[in-house]
Amino acid sequence: MDPNQRQKLIDAALTMRGRAYAPYSHFHVGAALLTATGRIFGGCNVENASYGLTLCAERVAVVSAVANGETEFVAMAVATSGGASPCGACRQFAAEFRGDLPVLIVDSDHPEQIRESNLAELLPEQFRLEQRD
Ligand code: THU
Repeated sequence: MDPNQRQKLIDAALTMRGRAYAPYSHFHVGAALLTATGRIFGGCNVENASYGLTLCAERVAVVSAVANGETEFVAMAVATSGGASPCGACRQFAAEFRGDLPVLIVDSDHPEQIRESNLAELLPEQFRLEQRD
């Protein structure tokens, strides 16, 4: 990945973290997705008084990209305090589009220290639906 785009992706995830709506957990998550056309789509977690309705930042970013006609993903960055890695549901959700998607895990307290992983490593044996006619 171009170092300039990589830094933009990291910065976007940090900006998105600032937009988290998390009045219940107070755990703020930002995600950003770079697509093949060079665009960046962001997401933040959006909680709800009915807790189970909460949307994770990563899935919001994926949905935003897809809703804008982009399904070819280059990399995703996720920013949290402490550098948490994406939950299992988000791993599967993003793997739908790219099973080996590079994932940059950003600790918002130390944003210069990036942990680099990918979905093949984070989610082995991904579920895929076999086509049956
Ligand atoms: N959360 C995310 O946004 N992404 C994850 O991968 C894990 C958890 C959110 C959901 C909830 O708003 C808060 O973090 C605490 O679980």
